[in-house]
Amino acid sequence: MLKVAVLISGTGSNLRALLEAAADPSYPAEIIAVGADRDAAGLAHAEEFGVPTFVVPFAAHESREAWGRELTARLAEIEPDLVVLSGLMRLLPHGVVERFAPNIINTHPAYLPEFPGAHGVRDALAAGVDQTGASVIVVDDGVDTGPIVAQERIPVLPGDTEETLHDRIKPVERRLLIDVVRRIATGDLPPR
Ligand code: GAR
Repeated sequence: MLKVAVLISGTGSNLRALLEAAADPSYPAEIIAVGADRDAAGLAHAEEFGVPTFVVPFAAHESREAWGRELTARLAEIEPDLVVLSGLMRLLPHGVVERFAPNIINTHPAYLPEFPGAHGVRDALAAGVDQTGASVIVVDDGVDTGPIVAQERIPVLPGDTEETLHDRIKPVERRLLIDVVRRIATGDLPPR
């Protein structure tokens, strides 16, 4: 059974989908902890599923590196086989990547390398493209630059807003994420 720690910043709807998938005894991964960089609403999903949570508040640290040191320490206590960034809206400090790579994956609401960064949906809309997508990548030190392990195209429809487009992207992200974690757990896919 692959032991997975998930990190979030926000509502955690993709986290919830992963928790639901992992609740099926036939799913080969277990969510052993959910962490956040602030008091994220999505932590409630973990609590509902009886999964331990922790917060390493970014704002309480003097630097990104100091935050990263505490995050590394908390994750190291948990000893996950895989760390999933599911809407963690922070660039992971080098120390965290160094400690856990290549066993860190991230979901992103665009077809990378198109539209990396914190506003993947907004940037795709602003660019006027007629298709965008969803991606799951292995995390490296860059901003959404790591190896792509799964991705799918999603059309941008006339009249789409950031919200309507993101609402269509997220179900695809969830499906890709659940599948990627399963494939890592079964040894079908690197990084494991
Ligand atoms: C997801 O779309 C995820 O890909 C995105 O935040 C959303 C979190 O939604 N992450 C990034 O944009 C990272 N650059 P959720 O909190 O409802 O799961």
